[in-house]
Amino acid sequence: MSKTEQSVIHIWGQNKLSGEVKISGAKNSALVVMAGSLLCASGCRLRNIPGLVDVDKMCQIIEALGVKIERNGDAIDFDTTGFNCHTPPFELVSKLRAAFFSIGPILARLGVAKVPLPGGCSIGARPVELHVRGLQAMGAHVEIEHGIVNAYVTGSSKRLKGAKIYLDYPSVGATETLMMAATLADGETILENAAKEPEVVDLANFCIAIGAKITGAGTDRITIVGVKELHEADYSIIPDRVEAATFLVAGAITNSEISMFPVIPGHLMAAVAKLEQIGAKVVMDAPDRMRVIPTGILKGTDIETLPYPAFPTDMQAQFMALLAVSEGNSVITETVFENRLQHVAELKLMGANIKVKGNHAIVEGVARLSGATVTATDLRASAALVLAGLAAHGKTTMQGLHHLDRGYDCLEAKMRSLGAKIERVRVNSEGETVYRYGEEVVKV
Ligand code: UD1
Repeated sequence: MSKTEQSVIHIWGQNKLSGEVKISGAKNSALVVMAGSLLCASGCRLRNIPGLVDVDKMCQIIEALGVKIERNGDAIDFDTTGFNCHTPPFELVSKLRAAFFSIGPILARLGVAKVPLPGGCSIGARPVELHVRGLQAMGAHVEIEHGIVNAYVTGSSKRLKGAKIYLDYPSVGATETLMMAATLADGETILENAAKEPEVVDLANFCIAIGAKITGAGTDRITIVGVKELHEADYSIIPDRVEAATFLVAGAITNSEISMFPVIPGHLMAAVAKLEQIGAKVVMDAPDRMRVIPTGILKGTDIETLPYPAFPTDMQAQFMALLAVSEGNSVITETVFENRLQHVAELKLMGANIKVKGNHAIVEGVARLSGATVTATDLRASAALVLAGLAAHGKTTMQGLHHLDRGYDCLEAKMRSLGAKIERVRVNSEGETVYRYGEEVVKV
């Protein structure tokens, strides 16, 4: 693609959708469990890995550490026998926050890790002091210089030591980093005020599958008893609850009935409760199959993002698109990230009536949105704009697709399979189409 060209998505809105969509493996689980593969003495196989640019980057980072990777569809084999490098490449880690979490397994296996700070991103500053303080409590020496975290363990065994760690905030990443580090530490680690997200539990289950001794994952107190070595396993990642919630909203916003499979309903309780307050019905056709049924009514409600099991920040933007066309007023309060309301400006381009005051967005529902040219400002914002485009009158063009491709596996193809009129094209600086992508998955 030449520098003056860019890929965009066109959406022609107000089409009814119908049918069933397959939900991919969870991005946030996959990335951290991939980092967790470094804990295995000889390797492991991971299944149900979503096809995402972030997953490709994580593979490159892990390969750079000396691990051999073989990909076969949605499965990845990791041969960790050659893992000997403690410095993941700066360029890649600085662009992928989850890659920083590899500091836990690298330090646990090699006794030393030099990992670049992930840096801020469009949704907030995203510091890592909770990860660092926890590793220090486990006996690591940590120096941060020139944007690089240099951590090492002294002593002949180079093993971290079990510790009691209280997290000031139930950070998902810090809980994951410290849980991985503790699996090979000497003695018992207790993480208090730990994150309870399903992805934390998935990582714990993976660690248990490779021989770790972990109890309490999914509660705010996780206990890890360190072992000397971790073995092989064949492990499948949980379905992506954020992707499933995106399709639930797609059904509600287009007044369409959509089924999704596989899902873990317990992971979607906050999203389902809000959808039902807004007006859609959600039914279970099987323990792992969910269907959204519109009722023709959409009315405003208030949403506050908080750590799990409360309403997730990763679903806030998509629900904002829905509330933008729901009757009455809604207040959305974002408490997890300090800068995660940038999609408001884009939704306003489509006719939404939203005001921002601090971390609150006050949404006054409008009868309908109208298609416009909009730009994705972050990953979940990109999904919100697709949803708004599906509901809007006329054509919406979305730019900034690198955000979407980071975290949604074949979103356009999946939407198309439900009947959406959506296509990805490459345009030149004049806005003329120079290439039309086919049904196959194409990454920009
Ligand atoms: C993970 C998810 C992300 C999700 C978020 C919250 C991955 C790869 N990403 O991100 O999609 O939106 O959980 O559910 O799993 N914080 C600190 N100091 C720290 C760590 C975090 O102040 O050391 C703050 C962050 O800046 C943020 C809040 O805590 O404001 C939540 O962050 P955290 O739970 O750590 O999110 P991530 O693990 O980065």
